[in-house]
Amino acid sequence: MRAPRCRSLTRAPSHFLCPPGQRRAAHAAAAVAHAPAWRPSSALDEWVQREARPISLRRLTFFGRTLTQSRLLDGANYCRLELPTRIAHRLRDIQTLPYVVVANPHLAHVYELYLTAFERFRRVPEIRSLDDNERYCKILQETLTEHATVIPRLALGVLEVRGLMRPEETDKFMNTMLRSRISRRVIAEQHLALTDTFNSPWHFPHNQPEHDPHVDTVGEIFLKCNAKEIVERCGKTTQELIKAAHGSHVQLPDIHIEGHLDATFPYIQSHLEYIIGELIRNSIQAVIEKKKYHGAKPPPIEVLICETSQHVIIRISDQGGGISNEILPHLWSFSKGPRHQKRLQNLARVPKLLGTLQELKMPGTQASKDHDKHDGGSSLSSLTSRPPDLRLGIGLPMSRVYAEYWAGSLEIHSLEGFGVDAFLQISKLGNKDERLTTRASMDA
Ligand code: COI
Repeated sequence: MRAPRCRSLTRAPSHFLCPPGQRRAAHAAAAVAHAPAWRPSSALDEWVQREARPISLRRLTFFGRTLTQSRLLDGANYCRLELPTRIAHRLRDIQTLPYVVVANPHLAHVYELYLTAFERFRRVPEIRSLDDNERYCKILQETLTEHATVIPRLALGVLEVRGLMRPEETDKFMNTMLRSRISRRVIAEQHLALTDTFNSPWHFPHNQPEHDPHVDTVGEIFLKCNAKEIVERCGKTTQELIKAAHGSHVQLPDIHIEGHLDATFPYIQSHLEYIIGELIRNSIQAVIEKKKYHGAKPPPIEVLICETSQHVIIRISDQGGGISNEILPHLWSFSKGPRHQKRLQNLARVPKLLGTLQELKMPGTQASKDHDKHDGGSSLSSLTSRPPDLRLGIGLPMSRVYAEYWAGSLEIHSLEGFGVDAFLQISKLGNKDERLTTRASMDA
């Protein structure tokens, strides 16, 4: 029997809005430890009525390129309305999950974080001056930091509620939550970055000398992302991580890159670094774990970059033996399949990390420089503070969420007994709206 769904629940019986049949079950479920103390919120109802106003890389670039005070304040007010709108939709999604599911401590924690952020954001008055903007940026920065563990919490939460929801529903929920989170962080981080640019000594119209460090960036968007350079950088970092996990004696495969090595396109580098880092890590891991090459230099990972009029396609091929039939059907699932069960046994508590390679701020990247700036620490220390072999098991589905968010795609073709070809397609013109809705048919 399916668990009850119940909107706007609270522990106070007078606030129960559920039909009587569901109410009994909800009462029983309310006894579950960690259940969130939901409060009915007419403000939430109001904000849920609003539609998200989609962004594209191109729109963000045009907007941020000629930055005036009035544009900066317009941007701040866009964030001010957009963030609570987007959070409101996700709060409503969580409220429509079965109560026993959201009683899970990790999911309840995420719900509370979002409710707190929603209440904080919706109360921000119109931003009319640079001082208002400074105050607003402080709120944004604090909230971004507070939400750093959302991904591992969601990942652990959905693993723990396996069996209480259909896997397709769980995956749809996760896809929507993660896309929405990416979108909110893009909006917030873009505004913070534009504010930094506006306050920087190089900022147009005051001064724009040749050495302006922002010349190829508009906020978080790097206008000339070069796939080859990102593959090289991610390859190096991943090799270091794997050496740290397996010992320096381990024989790692080389990474060969060929094709359109000069292809550039506008993108948020950290998104690409997450996806490519994950794919290369999977490939190297598969190759070194294949007993056949034990002790000897394994065959290289082959990367092919192909540029077309609309896309850049990156194919990453390994000879790591392919993906087992046991795992293949669940490759894109956040909760189903044998690898998830094993992970759950290994992860007794929430890891003290941000959850993604991107959020670990890979050394040498813009993200890592920002991280150093904010934390005053070295990016290497942030990498070493994370157990190098810790994996939440969501790397691939998460990579696909990143790829699809900017209208790209990620496909995996497994050649059983031989290896894997991963195809990452990037929409190179930046003119496609962010994809907030999930795939029509979940194939997880
Ligand atoms: C999140 O990171 O989960 C967010 O909701 C981002 C928001 C605080 C700007």
